[in-house]
Amino acid sequence: MTQPFLEVENLHVHFAGRQRLLRETMPTVKAVNGISFAIEPHRTFGLVGESGSGKSTVARAVLQLTDVTAGIIRLDGVDVTHVQRESELAFRKRVQAVLQDPYSSLNQVHQVRTIVGDGITRHFGIKPGPEREQRIVKLLDEVGLADEFLDRYPYEMSGGQRQRVSIARALAVEPDLIIADEATSALDVSIQSQVINVLRRVQADTGVAFLFIGHDLDVVRHVSDDVGVMYLGYLVEQGAADGVYDLPAHPYTEMLIASVPVPDPAAQADRRALRQTFKKDAEPPSPADLPPGCPFANRCPVAMDICSELMPHATAARHGGYVRCHLHTSGPMLAGESVIPYIRSAAGKSGKR
Ligand SMILES: Nc1ncnc2c1ncn2[C@@H]1O[C@H](COP(=O)(O)OP(=O)(O)OP(=O)(O)O)[C@@H](O)[C@H]1O
Ligand code: SF4
Ligand SMILES: [Mg+2]
Repeated sequence: MTQPFLEVENLHVHFAGRQRLLRETMPTVKAVNGISFAIEPHRTFGLVGESGSGKSTVARAVLQLTDVTAGIIRLDGVDVTHVQRESELAFRKRVQAVLQDPYSSLNQVHQVRTIVGDGITRHFGIKPGPEREQRIVKLLDEVGLADEFLDRYPYEMSGGQRQRVSIARALAVEPDLIIADEATSALDVSIQSQVINVLRRVQADTGVAFLFIGHDLDVVRHVSDDVGVMYLGYLVEQGAADGVYDLPAHPYTEMLIASVPVPDPAAQADRRALRQTFKKDAEPPSPADLPPGCPFANRCPVAMDICSELMPHATAARHGGYVRCHLHTSGPMLAGESVIPYIRSAAGKSGKR
C-alpha cells in the first residue's frame, strides 16, 4: 500500500455553545464524531450524506479553517492538526479547495488571468509575464477552456466555466490534495459530468488526490475509489465505492441509494416504494443533543430495542470496508452482508433497484 497523502484519525469537531441570553448557554454542537479515513495519491475518497451530516466541517478541519476538538490529521505522515502560522503558505500549496459556488468564491473584480495566475506568483515567485501567461494558458487548456478566457470576468462565464476556472486556480499551485466540496452540485447534469471528466483527467495527469464531497450517492460513487457515508457526524459505512453501492450494509446507505432517481420507470417506482419504508420525514436528532444509541434509529424501518440504547461499533462489511449497525451483530446477525434483502423482506418488497 502506498503511503496515504491524507490521514484523518478519530477526528472530532465540536462547536462550543455560545451564550445566548444572560444565563442561557447554547449546547455544544457535535458536528463530527470520531471519523477516520485515508487518501492515497491518485485516489479519490468520496464523502456522502444528507445536509448537516458534517461533510463540510470535515473539509474545513482538513483545510485548517476550523479548530479540531480531538483527533489527528496527517499530510504525508506528518501531523498537521494544528498547523503553525509560518507554515500556512506551504500548507496551502499542498491542499486546495474547490467549493460549490464558484461565483462567490472567485474574485469578481479580477479577470481569469489574475484569478489563476495569483497562486503561480505567490507559490512559485513567477511574476506576471510570458512565463506565467504560458502556465495559465496550459492550466486553462487542462480544464478545457481556450485562451480567450484569459480576459474574462467571472460574471461573463457560465456556472460550468466558472467551476473550471476554480479547478484551474486550485491546480495552479500543483497541490497534492484537492478538496471538492459540492463542487458539481449546483451544475446541470450534463455540465456536472463534463466537470467530473475534467477532475478525472487532471487526476490521471497529475496524481492529485481528491476528497470529493456530495449528497448524491450516485455522483459520488461515479467519481470515487472509496466512499464514506456520513450521518450526524459519524461515518456509518465506509469502503470501496462500488462495493458500498452494490452491497450497502447500513440502512441509511440504502436510503440514500433509494433517493437517487433512475431512468427506468419500473426501477424508479420500486425505489420510491422502498424510500417510503424509511421514516424519511422524521426529523434527525440535533447534533446538539445526540441520542445515546444509533442516531438513525428514529428513521430506520428495521430498528431494534438495542438501537436506541447503544451506539453500534464498527464491524467488517462484506464489501471489504466497515459498517456501524447493530443488524450485523444482533437480531438478524447479518455479519456484514448487504442489508438490501433484509430491508426488502421486512418491508414486503421485492424487485429491481
Ligand atoms: N461554526 C459552526 N458553529 C456551530 N455549528 C456549526 C458550525 N458549522 C457547522 N455547524 C453545524 O454542524 C453540523 C454539520 O454542518 P456541515 O456544514 O458540516 O454539514 P454538511 O454535511 O456539509 O451539510 P450540507 O450538505 O448542507 O453542506 C450542522 O448541524 C451545522 O449547523
Ligand atoms: S443500528 Fe439499528 S437503528 Fe441504526 S441503522 Fe442499524 S438497525 Fe437501524
Ligand atoms: Mg456542506
